[in-house]
Amino acid sequence: MTLKRLYYSSFFLLLFSFLTFSLSAQDQAAIDAGATLFKNNCGACHSRDMKTKMTGPALGGVEDRWADYPREDLYTWIRNSQGMISDGHPKATELWNEWKPVVMNPFPNLTDEEIENILAYINYVYTGAGQTTKGGPEVVDECTPPAADTGGSNMMYAFLFVILVVLALILARIISNLNYMQELREKGEAEKKTLTEILTSKGFVSFVVFAVVVVGGLFTVNNAINLGRQQGYQPEQPIKFSHITHACVHKIDCQYCHDGARRSKHSVIPAANTCMNCHKSIKVGSKYGTGELTKIFASIGYDPSTDKYIENYENLSDDEVKKIYTKWIADTYIQDNGSLDADGEKLINEQWDGIVEALTDEEIGDNKIQGPINWVRIHNLPDHVYFNHSQHVTVAGLECQTCHGPVEQMEVVSQYAPLSMGWCVNCHRKTEVKFADNKYYDNYYQLYHDQIKMHKRDKVTVDDIGGSECQKCHY
Ligand code: HEC
Ligand code: HEC
Ligand code: HEC
Ligand code: HEC
Ligand code: HEC
Ligand code: HEC
Repeated sequence: MTLKRLYYSSFFLLLFSFLTFSLSAQDQAAIDAGATLFKNNCGACHSRDMKTKMTGPALGGVEDRWADYPREDLYTWIRNSQGMISDGHPKATELWNEWKPVVMNPFPNLTDEEIENILAYINYVYTGAGQTTKGGPEVVDECTPPAADTGGSNMMYAFLFVILVVLALILARIISNLNYMQELREKGEAEKKTLTEILTSKGFVSFVVFAVVVVGGLFTVNNAINLGRQQGYQPEQPIKFSHITHACVHKIDCQYCHDGARRSKHSVIPAANTCMNCHKSIKVGSKYGTGELTKIFASIGYDPSTDKYIENYENLSDDEVKKIYTKWIADTYIQDNGSLDADGEKLINEQWDGIVEALTDEEIGDNKIQGPINWVRIHNLPDHVYFNHSQHVTVAGLECQTCHGPVEQMEVVSQYAPLSMGWCVNCHRKTEVKFADNKYYDNYYQLYHDQIKMHKRDKVTVDDIGGSECQKCHY
């Protein structure tokens, strides 16, 4: 009887967990689908934390805000918001009055189900489920860098040290036990050593000293080897520009900004004009407010209060420049906080100091706020080396990341590759030249074509076409 009951209850328990499991799996699929749709269609204007305003409003809690209207109205809005505004729908009018003239793109092709998936994803992130649920969709952290490996090697040395000490301890213990047994056998009586006695014994102490010397030596030598090069060099930049925000979260193509890589020797840091393509409309950031973005405006003389470029900006005095941008910072502060209090005054001064610091540089004799942003150069080959980006990016078809690492996951860029001669030459030795689909080689290297056809060789490396000749890389 009891056995039967046990049997039934476990059966129901199983069934129940199966049902909840399959239901949650279904939810999960909807959220995953919604995440992808959101990223591809909405993420450029609506923030991915669902809580901060960007070009468009924060979408967290949107269903509640539309709860007074039929669900279909929300679908209609997403498919064609402008149509709804001209029809005079009250909610649509309210939104438009707050956000105009920024127009939301229409998405006429999204199905009801797809919109529901997007809403499920919005909810999931907004309610914080995105942070806590195990096995949640990856998209939420897709842009956070993998566990920081800064100090990773230091950790390794510490680990090595601990292992050595533990080993020493075990050894000391064994030896002490052996001694004890030997004494016991020889003298018939002996005293067993306590742990503190072992720890302070000559043998153990000298072993620890030995371990410190070995590990410390390894550490120093390793650092000295890297010293001459700048691998890992990560200077602070005048503007807190984040490749995670731009290249990962907002999926802006590397070459949109570094357009020189495709066609010239240099990859070039983008000019402030490129930034303005977007920051004309994103004038206040979700992270630093007016703190960082105003630096861009002050460098090229864009007045965010009037949305116009300032005439004759070059010739304005520092005080005139200061007036324009502190007014913008103050106005934005008042808009968010109601009035200008002591905190506000402090913030304005701090942000203005930040602007001056970012745009002037006494060391290079730049004491004018107007003019280009002084980005700190990270990669820098010596003058006697010739390196050409377009040869590698356009002709060879290499990804930026092959040489620069996962830049889209770097909040602050650092030098990934050693940029040593060995690094260049090693890659030339092992990388094949893409002959088949490259007209560039058709006539010049007919010989290799023929050899490949006749099965005399199976590949052609950069080395084979002269990529290791000194004068190819040295002037
Ligand atoms: C080009 C920028 C842009 C894109 C892309 C965009 N939106 Fe919007 N969205 C806006 C703006 C701006 C508003 C505010 C109303 C207005 O100005 O039209 C808005 C408003 C909304 C609202 C109403 C918010 C509220 O608080 O009631 C919803 C819902 C919405 N968008 C959903 C979406 C979805 C879903 C997508 C992707 C399929 C999307 N948006 C893509 C800019 C955008
Ligand atoms: C929105 C514009 C923008 C996009 C998109 C962008 N970058 Fe950058 N990049 C910059 C700016 C500005 C700097 C200079 C400031 C800094 O170092 O962060 C820079 C610096 C760099 C540097 C260091 C340059 C030096 O001084 O040696 C590298 C390498 C780089 N970017 C690679 C990439 C790669 C790879 C991608 C695509 C995954 C990318 N960037 C996408 C704007 C951009
Ligand atoms: C293609 C569009 C685009 C371009 C080009 C662009 N940005 Fe951005 N930028 C964005 C978006 C989107 C954000 C996120 C805004 C937010 O979260 O409030 C952003 C955020 C920022 C932020 C953080 C602001 C904050 O307070 O959160 C800084 C700083 C910034 N950009 C600097 C630059 C600089 C410098 C350039 C030019 C080298 C540049 N951006 C080019 C789209 C762009
Ligand atoms: C074969 C390796 C390689 C590839 C691929 C590569 N780079 Fe570079 N990059 C370098 C080296 C080496 C330097 C240093 C050049 C110098 O100092 O003259 C550099 C420098 C830079 C700089 C600093 C400015 C400059 O031009 O010196 C930027 C920005 C940059 N790279 C971006 C990119 C982007 C974006 C891509 C992809 C479109 C890319 N790189 C692809 C090796 C590479
Ligand atoms: C990730 C691999 C890789 C790295 C690293 C690399 N290269 Fe290259 N390099 C190539 C490839 C592939 C080609 C062949 C391009 C082609 O098809 O012409 C090439 C071609 C060249 C050429 C033209 C050779 C010729 O015969 O025309 C020069 C010069 C060159 N690289 C210089 C450098 C220098 C300098 C460095 C280091 C700072 C470097 N490369 C690092 C892959 C690399
Ligand atoms: C694929 C490109 C490449 C080729 C081929 C190449 N070099 Fe270099 N060489 C470099 C780079 C990059 C550096 C800079 C290394 C650094 O700064 O650590 C360099 C540095 C040097 C230096 C200066 C050493 C130093 O510590 O600054 C000498 C000397 C040199 N190369 C000689 C040669 C000779 C001789 C050959 C021909 C056998 C040759 N290189 C072929 C890329 C190349």
